[in-house]
Amino acid sequence: MTYLVASSLDELPVDAATRIVVGGIAMAVVRTDEGVFALADRCSHADVSLAEGEVEGCALECWLHGSAFDLRTGQPLSPPATLPVATYPVRIVGEPAVVEIDPTPSIAAEDIS
Ligand code: FES
Repeated sequence: MTYLVASSLDELPVDAATRIVVGGIAMAVVRTDEGVFALADRCSHADVSLAEGEVEGCALECWLHGSAFDLRTGQPLSPPATLPVATYPVRIVGEPAVVEIDPTPSIAAEDIS
């Protein structure tokens, strides 16, 4: 795995999504009490930014039609989306803490388009 620096931990608001480009890939990065998660910043239902959505527990809800995606797996939890979005491995390192993300997606692009 090749992790790249995405942000300092302190720069990420809790229970909100932040759009960050890592390795040329736009991601919706979400910090919750359970950790930091990175999803592709593109809803699988239509081409809109997930980073503009709302965080509810361990899910990110698309602002356009309301599908929620599991932050851990990228799987859709509610319609109309039926396909998952890619997720990316995240690790927190150093002091002060830095968020690093591997831009290799968990799901091949052909599986999610
Ligand atoms: S565009 Fe995201 S649910 Fe429709």
